[in-house]
Amino acid sequence: MHIDIISVQPRLLDSPFAHSIMKRAQDKGLLSVETHDLKEFGIGKHRQVDDYQFGGGAGMVMKCEPLAACIDSLKAKRTYDEVIFVTPDGKTYDQGLANQLSLGENLLIICGHYKGIDERIREHYITMEISIGDYVLSGGELAAAVIVDSIGRIIPGVINNETSALTDSFQDDLLSPPVYTRPSDFNGWKVPEVLLSGHTAKIEEWRHEQALERTRARRPDLLEE
Ligand code: ADE
Repeated sequence: MHIDIISVQPRLLDSPFAHSIMKRAQDKGLLSVETHDLKEFGIGKHRQVDDYQFGGGAGMVMKCEPLAACIDSLKAKRTYDEVIFVTPDGKTYDQGLANQLSLGENLLIICGHYKGIDERIREHYITMEISIGDYVLSGGELAAAVIVDSIGRIIPGVINNETSALTDSFQDDLLSPPVYTRPSDFNGWKVPEVLLSGHTAKIEEWRHEQALERTRARRPDLLEE
């Protein structure tokens, strides 16, 4: 999968994909992520990318021309499954959407800044608008990083033990059960006996019960769906 990201602060995206699982995904050739500096498409000597909003009011708006030129230049190279704008008024992101997006070939993500982007770009270029939650970030870069990370880790082959990604919280609309590692007794706090029993069927049953119990207690809304 290839993901292009358009940003006015592309350096903010240097680190999230340079380590750990995202690095491994790229090293294995399963994922490539390229950031594009919108200022390179800015207007005039000052590479202007934003302007005052019509009708007055505080906050600058990202201009049409640089965004259109940047998106057009990328669309000339690739066909995108989705052109995504990350914005607090988008559809709330969840595991189902991550799964769906991970099936694509190419994605383009546009990060907003300031007051937002000119509505005409949203109308004519954007195919999907995503919010990562009901709070406002200072720009879309961290939202884009969240989306790329959640997609990248479920691309087949990225995580060695593939069942690991499939048993994540949310993958079957349940939260994950509690997990333990050695020592089996820490400060007198003991690991549940069943996990030490070696009885696979009983362990699976216990995990499922725990997952259900945890979901009921913490996220009953998931069970109602
Ligand atoms: N940009 C600013 N806040 C955001 C959010 N919550 N989700 C996606 N993009 C954003």
